[in-house]
Amino acid sequence: MKGVIFRGLEALVIEKCGMAAWDDLLEKNAPSDRIYISAESYPDEEIVGLAQDVADALSMSMPDVLKAFGEYLFGHLRGRHPTIVENFNGFADLIMGIDKVIHVEVAKLYQEPNLPEIKAELIEDGFILMHYYSKRQLCMCAEGLIFGAASHYGIEVALNHVECMHNGFDKCVIEVKYEIGNE
Ligand code: HEM
Ligand code: ZN
Repeated sequence: MKGVIFRGLEALVIEKCGMAAWDDLLEKNAPSDRIYISAESYPDEEIVGLAQDVADALSMSMPDVLKAFGEYLFGHLRGRHPTIVENFNGFADLIMGIDKVIHVEVAKLYQEPNLPEIKAELIEDGFILMHYYSKRQLCMCAEGLIFGAASHYGIEVALNHVECMHNGFDKCVIEVKYEIGNE
């Protein structure tokens, strides 16, 4: 996982719980001199450990933490890469462009990123069907990112995770119902 994602989690924890809390989490889950550099890669287990400890500290479930993190992460990524996000004409356009535009740009900027496979299908205005596949199984993070995108455009969105890799399916299927006309 790229440092930019860890930096997002760091910013969230520091904002909500303070620097001391982040230092404690880091001490427990990472080698002693760890500093996350956006463009570098770090072990996936490290972010899973950090997120698990955040969940324990806040008495939240791991899926809820990943979702909250994903929502925050959208703003963090937008701040780091404003030109990528500005390319889109609203929420639906952005969601339809995750795999073929956003993550393609990401792959040009970051060396060997570990990106999910996302297929978005416009069923009708207000309804996109998303297929998510990644061996990291961070579908709740994807949900959070979708909520983050919706709040960026100031629209309501409702998600229905109809199939999930965590329940034995070979990919996740997420129904994305969003407010139209206000994008
Ligand atoms: C990784 C989904 C928008 C840049 C990921 C991951 C997910 C995801 C779930 C975690 C990796 C995995 O699942 O295997 C989404 C969704 C988006 C979105 C649903 C929109 C709603 C963006 C945007 C940017 C971005 C706007 C930047 C401009 C990245 C980067 C990674 C990543 C840098 C990390 C790659 C790595 O660690 O190697 N994305 N993404 N994503 N995404 Fe996206
Ligand atoms: Zn899932």
